[in-house]
Amino acid sequence: MDVTAYMERFGHENLVVCQERSLGLKAFIAIHDTTLGPAAGGTRVWSYSSEWDAIEDALRLARGMTYKYAAGGVNLGGGKCVVMVKPGQQPGEAFFRTLGRFIERLGGMFLTGADVGTDLPQMKWLRSETSKIITLPVEWGGAGDIALATARGVLHGMRAGAEKVWETSDLAGRRVLVQGVGKVGRHLTRMLVADNAQVTISDVSAAAIDSCRSEIHDAELPTIPPNDVYDYDCDIYSPCALGKTLNPNSVSQLRARLVAGAANNQLEDDSVAELLQQRGIVYVPDYVGNAGGAVYDADRVMLGMPHDDQRAMTRVDQIGSTVRKIFDLAESEGVTSAHAADLYAEWRIDAVRRSQSLAVSPLINM
Ligand code: PHE
Repeated sequence: MDVTAYMERFGHENLVVCQERSLGLKAFIAIHDTTLGPAAGGTRVWSYSSEWDAIEDALRLARGMTYKYAAGGVNLGGGKCVVMVKPGQQPGEAFFRTLGRFIERLGGMFLTGADVGTDLPQMKWLRSETSKIITLPVEWGGAGDIALATARGVLHGMRAGAEKVWETSDLAGRRVLVQGVGKVGRHLTRMLVADNAQVTISDVSAAAIDSCRSEIHDAELPTIPPNDVYDYDCDIYSPCALGKTLNPNSVSQLRARLVAGAANNQLEDDSVAELLQQRGIVYVPDYVGNAGGAVYDADRVMLGMPHDDQRAMTRVDQIGSTVRKIFDLAESEGVTSAHAADLYAEWRIDAVRRSQSLAVSPLINM
């Protein structure tokens, strides 16, 4: 696939390639759409099998951020930074400070935050070189750990989905499979247990399972091997690890009636949404349900005010009603929920684009 053909197809604006030989730094910063504001998105560190895989991931995730912010009512555009590492490579301070300088060079066109493979320590290194960092510790003026906000948003989305399937948003007694108990999945597991759901967890890492179990003080919390997740007998499948777990093969095996999770890009491609619908499985669109962390973190950036937990959480707590609006739209338009979410986000972007046709400052500065 040609990079520019892909960008043309999905409307991407820029792709920035960063390289620094002495540190083995290779990163791709994708800018999708900046109609709503400067592009923002997390920095993901992952060992990809090819450069194209990394570029495609950056482009896909950047587009996901455009839609996530648009549907979440945030005035930011979509971007993503993907750092390509070798297996076992653990980038340190010099690496992230250099990446910070690359981000600084973009002059505010791209703002970043935490994602898979990055957390507050990496954000502090980036922040030492650029102010264009959204995710920061509280003592550095940020919102701190945002995984809790993401999990809370996923829970709201899941409750709205449950209401659609079973006519009650109560999750008590529902058998939920949480695939991936990393940063977000473990918080979600705790919240589901508190809601009296019957939770089963799965993770490729035994250490992640152990720490999740000890966090919720339940050494017996049921767990299943990663290969058994798709045909596992449950009511709700919650993908909270990496993306693309839903494809024609996995969807044909699913026994759950609802899919609601924290992963980005859960569908291998758009056609999978139709397959889910044909099988009568309700799907909470990924970027709507998992927007909690992003909208929580963006709140103070958007308003230019110090972080306020309550104010930012109000945005997260709107996710349930957004999901319900999207289900209604899907019904009235006769489309899948995934398609309806796209329409919902695109309408907002179009409306803002139209308002921008009015000049507010002299066009010529002499
Ligand atoms: N990793 C977050 C997500 O995918 C993105 C994010 C961007 C979070 C910027 C905080 C700040 O939703």
